[in-house]
Amino acid sequence: MDKKKYLITSALPYANGYIHLGHIAGAYLPADIFVKYKRLKKEDVIFICGSDEHGTAIEISALKEKVTPKEIIDRYHFANKRAFEELGIEFDIYSRTSNEIHHKTSQEFFLNLYNKNLLIKKSEKQLYSEKDKKFLADRFVEGTCPICGYEEARGDQCESCGSNLSPLELINPKSKISGDTPVIKESINFYFPLEKFQKKLEDWISQKTNWKYNVKNYCEGWFKTGLKDRAITRDLEWGVKVPLEGYEGKVIYVWFEAPIGYISATKELFIQRGNPEKWKEYWCDENTKLIHFIGKDNIVFHALVFPAMLMAHGEYILPDNVPANEFLNLEGGKLSKSKGHGILVKDVVKEYNPDLVRYVVASNLPENKDSDLSIDDFKIKNNNELAGILGNFINRTVVFAKNKFNNKIPARQNNESEILKTIKTQADIIEKCYESFRFRDALNETMNIARIANKFFNDMEPWNVIKTDVNKCGEIINDCLNICYSLAIAIYPILPFTSKKILKILNETDTELDWNKIGNINLKENRELGENEILFPQIENNNTTEDKEMEEEISITEFQKIKIKIAKVITCEKIPNSKKLLKLKIKIGDKEKQIVAGIAEHYLPDELIGKSIVVVSNMKKTKLMGIDSEGMLLAAKKDDKLVLLSTDKPIDDGADVN
Ligand code: 2FM
Ligand code: ZN
Repeated sequence: MDKKKYLITSALPYANGYIHLGHIAGAYLPADIFVKYKRLKKEDVIFICGSDEHGTAIEISALKEKVTPKEIIDRYHFANKRAFEELGIEFDIYSRTSNEIHHKTSQEFFLNLYNKNLLIKKSEKQLYSEKDKKFLADRFVEGTCPICGYEEARGDQCESCGSNLSPLELINPKSKISGDTPVIKESINFYFPLEKFQKKLEDWISQKTNWKYNVKNYCEGWFKTGLKDRAITRDLEWGVKVPLEGYEGKVIYVWFEAPIGYISATKELFIQRGNPEKWKEYWCDENTKLIHFIGKDNIVFHALVFPAMLMAHGEYILPDNVPANEFLNLEGGKLSKSKGHGILVKDVVKEYNPDLVRYVVASNLPENKDSDLSIDDFKIKNNNELAGILGNFINRTVVFAKNKFNNKIPARQNNESEILKTIKTQADIIEKCYESFRFRDALNETMNIARIANKFFNDMEPWNVIKTDVNKCGEIINDCLNICYSLAIAIYPILPFTSKKILKILNETDTELDWNKIGNINLKENRELGENEILFPQIENNNTTEDKEMEEEISITEFQKIKIKIAKVITCEKIPNSKKLLKLKIKIGDKEKQIVAGIAEHYLPDELIGKSIVVVSNMKKTKLMGIDSEGMLLAAKKDDKLVLLSTDKPIDDGADVN
């Protein structure tokens, strides 16, 4: 029998926003912890992710920002890839669904079902704009809500009364692209026969005794209502083209092709590794355990729709497990960027040690119910747990060895150690937690190793023993140093950066960690230790944005130094080769100035000409991309949104702002 393999996936995040801690808690950190643990166990595991780069949300963002979808996906793909890396999340591949291999793989998948006559063709009435020359998908239309009369209701939903709508229900619909009034036209689209798969899915899920309760329960809810066939093509431009003649202008629905992205990314991985056929050893072999890590909003696609697609296709394995998490809330509110509650990974790693971020999120994972993360957790967990328990044990051991044993690993008399046996038992407990996807418990049990170790140090009182029996004391410290090494292994899935630091402190060159070595006597006697390092410096105050904003106060005289004035934009143009910068000529009373501002991703030059803006007029002259800038315009920025400050009534340029 072939060896067991693990194919681990994390939901492909949309490339139209930055990754925040809510995402991390849902689908990425648990997966990374699990993968790291499996790697320590020397299992055959690959970890797949990438950007989900199609869908109307991306097209709408592009439309809003007046850029191409490609610009949007490039911006977020690379930013998110980097954010994951900064947090120590190590995919084997972070691919993109805009890659050719994905388009090809999705089209082949589609054709496989089409050729088996599994897909259902339906002709339906849809809104079509003659001016835009296209069908208007739900989010591309706006109109009056038939329920509450709200005039800017979207084609899929009214944001005022919350009703679900279809574009055809809107009164007085308008294209969001051009404002054109659409007409009704018939369009043919393909449906996936999900209804037909209900029985098979029910039988399959009923055998999944190890699935999380919330996931099974959710699926059973869907079964009760009855699964409905699902449209899998759309009249859109942006996406994977429907690979059939006569269906030009249609793409495969994003939720049909995105999960196929797991397959395409695996293919790409093995092309990169020079073994292009090897992906089949994962996707087409019953010995592979396919595990999808996701947030609960994705359950229906990963536990029902994608498995049904895989069943229909027939050549691929089905998921072994879908350990979906609930939502992580921040300070009691939903962790969502749109509500301004999000903590973006790219920002948080600038403030905190990435292992602290991993630890705080891991200890709050919403495994069985929504959980709450408080900003104070960063300080409390750092000081009380990471520094107070883990860091403390490593530090006291290493300092003792340095002071009393010449910074060397003291010799031991016997090769049996009760305390190390206890640590080994502890490793078995942690293993059970990981195997049943209980990562919070795993974290707690891992920290218990450090707790047990501190208690051992206290109980053994090496500082007293050394006065009467140096050899015995050496044995205690040898045990403690070996526990430090065991800790470096045990914490690795959760705290990979710290694990490496501990190895360095121990001057351990064998950095190929192995889970089975936890609780062994691993360290060579009499070997010199490395340099000690405080692993988790105390955090005095949380550097939250609010704190920072309150941090530095300025006097009125300092404020008065800044001359803020109203200016009128006379000319405005893009700066060649710069995505961000615009060059503006502005008039401030009788003076004219040139300024360069980083707003090109938010405003078109033409939009600004003639506008009144607010500027700091006494900035020292500077050069941006070689162009003089003699002032600074004021804008409000939040997440990805930027708006220029303006006055609520017209006022002449040159006016002072105080
Ligand atoms: O919810 C999301 O962010 C989706 N982009 C997840 C897709 S997962 C998979 F199907 F690709
Ligand atoms: Zn309404």
